[in-house]
Amino acid sequence: MKTLVLVAHPNMGKSRVNKAWIEEVKKYPDQITVHDLYASYPDWRIDVQTEQELAEKHDRIIFQFPFYWYSSPPLLKKWLDDVLTYGWGYTSKGGKLRGKELGLAISIGGSEIDYQPGGGDLYTIHELLSPFHATSNLIETDFLRPFTIFDTDDKSEEELISSSRQYAEYLLADGIMRFQADNVLQK
Ligand SMILES: Cc1cc2nc3c(=O)[nH]c(=O)nc-3n(C[C@H](O)[C@H](O)[C@H](O)COP(=O)(O)O)c2cc1C
Repeated sequence: MKTLVLVAHPNMGKSRVNKAWIEEVKKYPDQITVHDLYASYPDWRIDVQTEQELAEKHDRIIFQFPFYWYSSPPLLKKWLDDVLTYGWGYTSKGGKLRGKELGLAISIGGSEIDYQPGGGDLYTIHELLSPFHATSNLIETDFLRPFTIFDTDDKSEEELISSSRQYAEYLLADGIMRFQADNVLQK
């Protein structure tokens, strides 16, 4: 199982969580490829052919990003727009990613409780991530249970180390749980 982690953080220099996650998973280059979109494309001119070839070489694709305005940072959206072209990402007979796994690894500043039904952020994290789930459905990938960390500003160095190890274990596991609508907030 080869996993491609597409990282989209606009300000990696100031990151705590995403930086710690990447440093940990880079220890496993045989199983995990880390590809930093903002570092690779400072001019936002995504090399579509390179991205498509890279994705084809992996069995599982993970979008890793900090939750910004209830969504992903914009360069990941541009990656979807540019790379998932008709004829490659999807066709009436299926696209090139069909049958692969697609997952999300997201750092979230808000509290888990605020993303529960009736919570302060109005919608659950599953509802807010539904465009990714729908995209996965369209390109016929298996959508995985997201890996999340909430309350990012309150995390100690020890908690970041622990989260990074859990993230590496999550990525190295062959059988990551498929997404089910009601398990997204379970620990
Ligand atoms: C522009 C911006 C928008 C943000 N929007 C949200 C948001 O909608 N919901 C939320 O819970 N946290 C939000 N946050 C907090 C980030 O999710 C949090 O700072 C980040 O996940 C921490 O990860 P890092 O240490 O890798 O930067 C936002 C932060 C920034 C800078």
